[in-house]
Amino acid sequence: MLLTTVLFATSLPVCLVSLALGVRAPALPSASFLNGRRAANESYLEALSETQRQVFDYVLDALDENFSPPFLFNSPRYSAWYAVGLLARNGKGDVATASQILKDVISFQFTDPNTDWYGTFKDVPSAPDPGDVYPPRLYTSYDTNIGLFVCTSFIIIMEEFQHMLEPSLVTLIKKSMYNATVGDGYRVGGFNGDGYSAGGFIGDNLYPIYSNPWYMRVMAATYVGKMMGDTNMSYWGDQWAAEAVASFNLYGTLAEFNCGTYTGVTLYALSLWGYMPKNSTIVKHAKDIIAKTWTSIGMFYNPTLHTLGGPWDRTYGYDMRAYYGILGGQIAGIIGGIEDGNAPLPRPIVGSEHFGDAAANVLTPLIAKFNDPYVPAAALAQLKGLSTSHAYSAQAVSPPWDNPTVPRNYTSWTAPGLSIGAIASDEKVIGGAATNQAAYVPASIIWSTGTQTVWFNMYPTSGTISAAASHTGLTIAYPTSAAFNSTLTSNVMTFLFGGFPHLSLPANFLAVANGTSTGTLPNLRLTLSGNVVSAGTRTLVYGAGSINDLPYYNLTYAFGDLGGAVPQIVIAVEKI
Ligand SMILES: *[C@@H]1O[C@H](CO)[C@@H](O)[C@H](O)[C@H]1NC(C)=O
Ligand SMILES: *[C@@H]1O[C@H](CO)[C@@H](O)[C@H](O)[C@H]1NC(C)=O
Ligand SMILES: *[C@@H]1O[C@H](CO)[C@@H](O)[C@H](O)[C@H]1NC(C)=O
Ligand SMILES: *[C@@H]1O[C@H](CO)[C@@H](O)[C@H](O)[C@H]1NC(C)=O
Ligand SMILES: *[C@@H]1O[C@H](CO)[C@@H](O)[C@H](O)[C@H]1NC(C)=O
Ligand SMILES: *[C@@H]1O[C@H](CO)[C@@H](O)[C@H](O)[C@H]1NC(C)=O
Ligand SMILES: *[C@@H]1O[C@H](CO)[C@@H](O)[C@H](O)[C@H]1NC(C)=O
Ligand SMILES: *[C@@H]1O[C@H](CO)[C@@H](O)[C@H](O)[C@H]1NC(C)=O
Repeated sequence: MLLTTVLFATSLPVCLVSLALGVRAPALPSASFLNGRRAANESYLEALSETQRQVFDYVLDALDENFSPPFLFNSPRYSAWYAVGLLARNGKGDVATASQILKDVISFQFTDPNTDWYGTFKDVPSAPDPGDVYPPRLYTSYDTNIGLFVCTSFIIIMEEFQHMLEPSLVTLIKKSMYNATVGDGYRVGGFNGDGYSAGGFIGDNLYPIYSNPWYMRVMAATYVGKMMGDTNMSYWGDQWAAEAVASFNLYGTLAEFNCGTYTGVTLYALSLWGYMPKNSTIVKHAKDIIAKTWTSIGMFYNPTLHTLGGPWDRTYGYDMRAYYGILGGQIAGIIGGIEDGNAPLPRPIVGSEHFGDAAANVLTPLIAKFNDPYVPAAALAQLKGLSTSHAYSAQAVSPPWDNPTVPRNYTSWTAPGLSIGAIASDEKVIGGAATNQAAYVPASIIWSTGTQTVWFNMYPTSGTISAAASHTGLTIAYPTSAAFNSTLTSNVMTFLFGGFPHLSLPANFLAVANGTSTGTLPNLRLTLSGNVVSAGTRTLVYGAGSINDLPYYNLTYAFGDLGGAVPQIVIAVEKI
């Protein structure tokens, strides 16, 4: 297990490792792509672009194989998404199956308005309700984000498929949506809820900077307020939208920045703007936020590696073809790549890491009409091909974890077969706003060995890490916090790297010899310098853990006082 407290590893962490076993592997798309699939009623799906349709089919086929009634993945949340996909396909028996799933999902919604978890859905059907034997704890015994995941997917049902359902079921869904949205309204960042971080009790973490559920709450309140004639709810939908826009407009970025999974969830939520009341606040801003978010994605996406380069605020892997990231489904929906394997998606997806999250990508093709037209031409070109190596920089800020006056600074270098990225951050928690050391990657090098995409990443042990990327590599320092009276100092710098088949490193790899520390990994030469290297104590071990289910080499430098100097390491890289 990881030596980390995973706290808000929330929203979409599915551990579906067991599913990898005994599951019938699907044929590759080329073999099964047009044959053997359950027939669709084309009247709805024919409106999708060809590439979005391929994503929809690719994912829904895989979900079909894993559907074990009553639920997909034993999860009311993922089952709700699957039901929406079945309604869109509308093949033989799909509407009846979807209707039953929807009733079953709603039967797992919490109904007591006097609890903090009112209106959300049980994550694991066999778990008891939060109570004396299962202490109420946010993201542990209950997860208020699930109410938003489900409710937002029901918006698509209301707008696209309502006519296919029994009126009594439509009424039930509306009540369910209302309860989910009222329950979400209980959440106030820092107050209600039972969230904990490394620093102790922190209450709920639903602040505008927690972009993915925050944008879902905006859409839920805006839509359900109108649908149910609840003007207070509509008011809050507009209010929360204004808060989201203010947060976004500080630096033109989502505060959960550059995430293969969560940027996808936020774009999913934003794409629902097309169903919102025309005069709502979010409608005025969603297209701009979508466009600017795609501009950032275009800058970090490396089409020669078929994945999003780092750094990442929250990631579940380093190669989108080796774990399922929802954003990968959206990118594939725009540029294609399912058939030829160039999509940033695992192939096959059944059994892939985070496979459960794939269910989101039966939803995103349906609402791509509110996203795809707003992808700027320059970003589209960058998704399709790397015409020239480029540097990029951006900023983001996540109060209260960041001091509002001290934003995080992102830098990256994107080149053929190589992406380097870094974050300068000064936070009062370790592991980014999600306080998750395994997911927050403040400095990263990923590159191609020809057959694999491999990684060399910093593992955060301090809240204050000043890392910068350039075409020559990484510079990383541990300055004193300027943003907080922080006690989160660290006397180690840890780098985790892996992904190499047939590699056995010697004990003296990167040890200082003749005054220099240089070493070669497949297709990459590294040269390390700085006081951390010259004065620190170096250890190199393999096999002591895994991160995002990936085993790693752990290169760690421990250091004491460095004569008052700021601890620093420079990692020069050369692709060979
Ligand atoms: C396909 O769906 C449309 C819209 O729901 C419906 O009008 C039509 O009858 C369906 N066709 C078939 C063959 O089921
Ligand atoms: C909605 O909440 C009310 C209590 O406020 C409860 O009586 C009702 O059963 C809930 N409806 C659904 C669909 O969960
Ligand atoms: C209005 O909505 C907010 C946010 O959900 C909630 O806190 C408040 O209690 C609601 N007020 C009324 C009168 O329903
Ligand atoms: C949108 O229109 C409705 C109905 O006319 C009104 O109640 C609401 O205040 C308007 N919202 C905004 C943000 O102007
Ligand atoms: C990010 O850059 C700004 C200058 O644009 C600087 O004021 C700030 O301190 C930097 N943030 C960090 C964490 O170093
Ligand atoms: C940091 O601590 C000093 C001395 O205790 C105090 O005066 C100052 O206000 C604190 N600053 C912050 C940002 O909390
Ligand atoms: C270190 O320098 C000595 C003398 O120049 C040389 O013989 C030796 O090969 C060098 N070792 C390495 C690892 O470069
Ligand atoms: C990396 O190695 C160091 C030194 O052995 C150890 O203290 C640390 O816990 C390890 N970190 C991880 C994430 O494995």
